[in-house]
Amino acid sequence: MIYQIKPVIGSRARSELIKYIKGDNWITEYKKTEEFEKKFAKFTNSKYCIAFPNGTLTMSSVLDCLNLKKNSEVLVSNYTMVATANVAKLANLKTVLVDISSNDLCMCPKDLKKKINKKSKVVIYTEMNGRVGQLEEIRKICKKKKLILIEDSAHAIGTYCKKRHVGNHGLAGSFSFSMPKLITMGQGGAIITNNQALEKKLRMYKNFGRKKSGEDIHYSIGYNYKITDIQSLLGVEQLRNIKKRIYTKKKIFRRYYLNLKKNKKIKFFDIKKNETPWSVDIYLKEVKKLKKILEKKKFYTRYVYPPLNSQKIYKKYKNMPNSSYYCKRGLWLPSSLDLSMKSIDQICRVINQHI
Ligand SMILES: Cc1ncc(COP(=O)(O)O)c(C=O)c1O
Repeated sequence: MIYQIKPVIGSRARSELIKYIKGDNWITEYKKTEEFEKKFAKFTNSKYCIAFPNGTLTMSSVLDCLNLKKNSEVLVSNYTMVATANVAKLANLKTVLVDISSNDLCMCPKDLKKKINKKSKVVIYTEMNGRVGQLEEIRKICKKKKLILIEDSAHAIGTYCKKRHVGNHGLAGSFSFSMPKLITMGQGGAIITNNQALEKKLRMYKNFGRKKSGEDIHYSIGYNYKITDIQSLLGVEQLRNIKKRIYTKKKIFRRYYLNLKKNKKIKFFDIKKNETPWSVDIYLKEVKKLKKILEKKKFYTRYVYPPLNSQKIYKKYKNMPNSSYYCKRGLWLPSSLDLSMKSIDQICRVINQHI
């Protein structure tokens, strides 16, 4: 059986975890989390990194710290995980959906321009499956229209735009370390930012509005959005071999591409040198048929996210043809870090035989 994706932690991380548990350690968010934050900031070349319990509270916390008027509008791609859209609601703001570009599956600058009005305050830009898309164009629009840009870089560890790691191109970048991500802590997340005022606000916000744990003076509203050193230890260990993880994901994507590129029924979207795919996504008309065939052979896949405006909560948003077209045809193929080239060849043989 081959899963669509499973966590790969490594033997060193396992033994460090056991050592940590056997030792006289604090378990809660402490030295290991500080170490992880420093190392992740260094890896992404950003000034600050603040750990969070997941890649949802990261974004809602940034939105909360902006102190925007209730119902200010947050523009989000129609093709992203639902969390990117839901965080606006969590922060008492309003989500507005924007179509994707049919060149790169990321937010379409043209449609973004159409949706901007006086209430628009924030754009959350998802680097879909590690693709940069037209981030630079979107950044320029945000600057011109005085919108705050937040990157949802949950899929994009190891992706660079103009030689800077994604997450550094707006006010803040959000990462998720949930089970299927390139770095996994089971659950976990982080914000990177180069803005010191935001870093200070977020640190207090995630700690009940206190400047320091153990001191019960609350300077602002805040909650408990801390993580544990056990999670951070997993992150630290995976950062040790991050280059290899990135290399492996690129190699997996390339192998599928080489095997399937002659198949005219399957559309691949390019992954460039500066981009790291999180998973392998293909697009085809006979997506349901292919899923079933692969499942029979015990190769598990997953449909890509449905367009957000096909979900009950977002159905009032209409007329987004590109996302409607591609989201209904997309399939994530098996893409775990420990997937062998032999298995990829087997999977592709089945695909090419039937599609
Ligand atoms: C693009 C994107 N944004 C946000 C999230 C939410 O992250 P988390 O599950 O850590 O809350 C995910 C999770 O899959 C995601 O894929």
